[in-house]
Amino acid sequence: MSALFTPLSLGPFSVPNRIAIAPMCQYSADDGCASIWHLQQIMQYAMSGAGLVMLEATGVERRGRISHGCLGLYSDANEAALARVMKEARAVAIPGTRFGIQIGHAGRKASTQRPWEGRIGLSAGEDPWPTVAPSAIPFAKGYDTPAALDDAGLLTVKAAFVQAAVRAERLGFDVIELHSTHGYLLDEFLSPHANRRTDGYGGDRAARMRFPLEVAEAVRGAVSKNVVVGARITGTDWTDDGWSPEDAGVYATELKARGIGYACVSSGGVVTGVNIPSGPGYQVGLAAHVKRASGIVTRAVGHIVTADQANTIVEKGEADMVALARAILDNPRWVWHAADKLKAKIDYPPQYQRIAPSLWKGAAWARPEDFA
Ligand SMILES: Cc1cc2nc3c(=O)[nH]c(=O)nc-3n(C[C@H](O)[C@H](O)[C@H](O)COP(=O)(O)O)c2cc1C
Repeated sequence: MSALFTPLSLGPFSVPNRIAIAPMCQYSADDGCASIWHLQQIMQYAMSGAGLVMLEATGVERRGRISHGCLGLYSDANEAALARVMKEARAVAIPGTRFGIQIGHAGRKASTQRPWEGRIGLSAGEDPWPTVAPSAIPFAKGYDTPAALDDAGLLTVKAAFVQAAVRAERLGFDVIELHSTHGYLLDEFLSPHANRRTDGYGGDRAARMRFPLEVAEAVRGAVSKNVVVGARITGTDWTDDGWSPEDAGVYATELKARGIGYACVSSGGVVTGVNIPSGPGYQVGLAAHVKRASGIVTRAVGHIVTADQANTIVEKGEADMVALARAILDNPRWVWHAADKLKAKIDYPPQYQRIAPSLWKGAAWARPEDFA
């Protein structure tokens, strides 16, 4: 059996294969409430064959949303809207599919336009809101200058993470993922580029990790052992004086010690003007380092596009899982074709069985060249 289609135990349950759909903001919610866009999208992902379907970055506080269109889990209305989506998605899901949700807080990168509107800070006429961060340093020109969180503010944010996690468990999510990368709030605490605090939450690495680790511990403690709490972390800021791969290994070790079940290793996003050497599998080495350094279950992400590439990453033990974002947006049937290519059996929804390669030879020439 191919490595990619081998089940993976995450502790309380196993995932049927090593493929995750990466969290992807859709900027299509209304005050945090999932819309009909989410309904079609998550239903589509549910029948994709991916072992783990991750829902997009979901704000634990209203002010923790990136944009007006971001999903949230800070109100009863948010929870009810997502309950509808998940009920319908589960009704069409391929048996064994696991669902996760990424919970986060956008910190100083909150209150911005949707990407297709410009992505900079909301102007006075666009209903902006005040942002918070470890230190009062704006992300970049055109962004709000955040207020530095005081002790009471830290408690409020931590409580919001816990409350969102409790809601997520009530919604039946198998996996809750802490968004601790891409320059959003938890990452802002970790990176010396954004954290200039002089209290116990800033300074050396241990102090900068303190708040994110407190959040991880609180969330882990707030949900049952049937739920896997994971984290998406930064492998590097891609700067000489920022967060490094070594820091990521130490952070993952500390997360693991607090019961965090996996780390998905991404990078960048905390400062602008950085040269990111993006290309095929450019973050896989970071995941491999984190796995070696910490022993945590690791998910690799970033420019993973072909079935062979994904399979090799798992086969070589560079990561335990892979996450795909744009390849799945481009082709939601990616997993079906990968299964064909790697000769793995996958359950098609019965309504679609007639396109299984064993029944329809057209599959061989209809699919992208990589899968031929
Ligand atoms: C439309 C879109 C939305 C995204 N939203 C999120 C998100 O909500 N949370 C997150 O951690 N990463 C997000 N990302 C980053 C992806 O999860 C992924 O890490 C990145 O796209 C690299 O993977 P890829 O090369 O497979 O696309 C997003 C990417 C895209 C393309």
